[in-house]
Amino acid sequence: MSAIMSTYGRLPVAFASGSGAELYDQNGHAFLDALSGIAVTNLGHCHPNVTRAIKEQAETLLHTSNLYGISQQERLATELTQLTGMKKVFFCNSGAEANETAIKVARRHGANQGIKDPKIVVIEGAFHGRTMGALSATGSAAIQEAFKPLLPGFIRIGRNDIEALENIAKNHRDVVAVHLEPIQGESGIWPLNTDFLKRARTLCDEHNWLLSFDEVQSGNGRCGALYVFQRLGVTPDVLATAKGLGNGLPIGACMTNERASELLIAGDHGTTYGGNPICCAAASAVINTLSAEQLWDQADIIRDAILNGLYGELHDETLVKDVRGCGLMIGIEPRTPTADIVRMALDRRILLNVAGGNTIRLLPPLVMNADQAKRVGENVADILNTLGNNPQSNS
Ligand SMILES: Cc1ncc(COP(=O)(O)O)c(C=O)c1O
Repeated sequence: MSAIMSTYGRLPVAFASGSGAELYDQNGHAFLDALSGIAVTNLGHCHPNVTRAIKEQAETLLHTSNLYGISQQERLATELTQLTGMKKVFFCNSGAEANETAIKVARRHGANQGIKDPKIVVIEGAFHGRTMGALSATGSAAIQEAFKPLLPGFIRIGRNDIEALENIAKNHRDVVAVHLEPIQGESGIWPLNTDFLKRARTLCDEHNWLLSFDEVQSGNGRCGALYVFQRLGVTPDVLATAKGLGNGLPIGACMTNERASELLIAGDHGTTYGGNPICCAAASAVINTLSAEQLWDQADIIRDAILNGLYGELHDETLVKDVRGCGLMIGIEPRTPTADIVRMALDRRILLNVAGGNTIRLLPPLVMNADQAKRVGENVADILNTLGNNPQSNS
């Protein structure tokens, strides 16, 4: 019996090593990784640049404290601000913490204006993390229910509901921010409309609200730009990220532009590990590797290869109800029930998962080659062909 808390339903496989887009189990079997540790290993497993940076830093210094200057943190912040146009960065350890920081930035923005009961507008179906603030901002009653009371101060609207946002602008005085994932991941890969994002930007400007993007999943090259906002052409005031930033080392970041950079002041926020030398060294290697060759341009190429593989093998195109997403956030919603799909893929030595209950989610690394991408698509097709002919199948 495992001594680990049962917070995860785990699959019956454990990996011993990995390289590029492949993981190897304890018997040396190769699995094609179309999930990247849930959007983390965007550069693939054990990328040599990241490994080198970690090794060198591990031999020099692991941790000091944010009480002192940390040159690796300074360097990473400079790289991120130069590449995003944001102005300042707070480093933390996870996506949830990056969102907690964004929530505190928004509340501080309100407090500075004398707003005592600040409201942050959030979106139905959003996922922002499991800590209490991030969980309260999340739009999923199922994962909130057992942990009430939630943090107050969130107003939730439907995806792309411009009218609801306009009504809030007319009727609420205490709004301080709009916080959203430009492409919702956990609820099944739902990109928000650019029109909605643009309208949100305008309303934020008109009403002195902060526009805050959660790019924990969509960021770090995954969606065809370093951060997907750069592709969408709508720039947030606050940008939360994590996951792919460290390619496996735990690091998150909350970036702020001119409007939001001076809001948090000494004593307002902190973390012991956030921005420590080893995580920052790894993240610098990630950011430099991504940007040196604009590796994010691979995202659409790999996406096309996967979808060509899928449609090339599908017996009947109507087995797929919808394909959504951007770059390497790919949601494939089949007509069949999805309960068996993760297991069927594992049997075929393909790693993927199901998000939002009904959508196959593929989050492959930017280093997946054309043959591997085609195989991912073909295997998904094979599973859907099998299920399509026999929807009750448990094979
Ligand atoms: C969009 C988004 N925000 C926040 C989180 C939480 O990140 P973490 O698990 O690192 O706390 C996730 C994790 O899946 C996510 O997809």
